[in-house]
Amino acid sequence: MPAASQASSSAYLADQAFDIRPFAEKVGAEIIGLDLSRPLSDADFARVHQAHLDYHVAVFRDQHITPQQQIDFSRRFGVLQIHVLKQFLLKNHPEILIVSNIVEDGQPIGLGDAGKYWHSDLSYKELPSLGSMLHAQELPDEGGDTLFANLHLAWDTLPHALREAVEGLSAVHSYTSRYSEGKNAANWRPTLTSEQLAQVAEVTHPIVRTHPETGRKALFVSEGFTTRIVGLPEDESRQLLDELYAHSVRPEHVYRHQWQPHDLVFWDNRSLIHLAAGCPTELRRKLFRTTIQGDAPF
Ligand code: OGA
Ligand code: MN
Repeated sequence: MPAASQASSSAYLADQAFDIRPFAEKVGAEIIGLDLSRPLSDADFARVHQAHLDYHVAVFRDQHITPQQQIDFSRRFGVLQIHVLKQFLLKNHPEILIVSNIVEDGQPIGLGDAGKYWHSDLSYKELPSLGSMLHAQELPDEGGDTLFANLHLAWDTLPHALREAVEGLSAVHSYTSRYSEGKNAANWRPTLTSEQLAQVAEVTHPIVRTHPETGRKALFVSEGFTTRIVGLPEDESRQLLDELYAHSVRPEHVYRHQWQPHDLVFWDNRSLIHLAAGCPTELRRKLFRTTIQGDAPF
């Protein structure tokens, strides 16, 4: 086999020695000693993939990788999604969305409030995200944590009456439901063009979805993007959704990620919702996000 194709085939790459250490919480694991700047062997990729399915959040410590290396690693999991807010895509790397509160020359350099409400990335699309990766570029000395709630556990522990009330029902997801809320100097968001609005027309998904790889059921609603339950009167829909949201984020379902320099965090949007805790506006925070496309929920 010619050298060039050998180098591009992951079957010929050496395995790396690395540890997978689950957190004490019922979600998340830390991956220590793996270097994502090197292409992963098939065996290493299989271990990482399984850890992602088992723990839903994989925290890769100490990753000194370029945007292109983040993109290459992300692509091993699927097709990448390009965010609708084109103004916040990294120059020459549109697969990367800049998540940042930094303002330069009066212009925000990235999406400042990527996760003010609990949400699953791109649940407002027909094909929501499989998972997202955030790579820390600049971290504040205080705050800036990201919280993850395990929606398999939320479904498994949901009171019987609530389960019966929502099983088989669908809900509407909309990108614009909270888009303009809190639109102010600290939480600036560009006005969407009609073309952008057309890309984020609302969609309907089942309230209880089955994970396509593990077969486990999970709730699939969130305060960030879910607006109503199909076929129910508004007040009933509101009340049920509020009960589901409250149950989803009970402390025993949640892992709070406190960022360390050079962390790369890869979570499963089919199993979790997440939230940005926020940080004082005068402190700089910048992360690079890649978003992998998933299947239509069923
Ligand atoms: C995201 C997101 C949370 C954070 O980038 O999808 O929700 O803590 N970010 O920045
Ligand atoms: Mn998000």
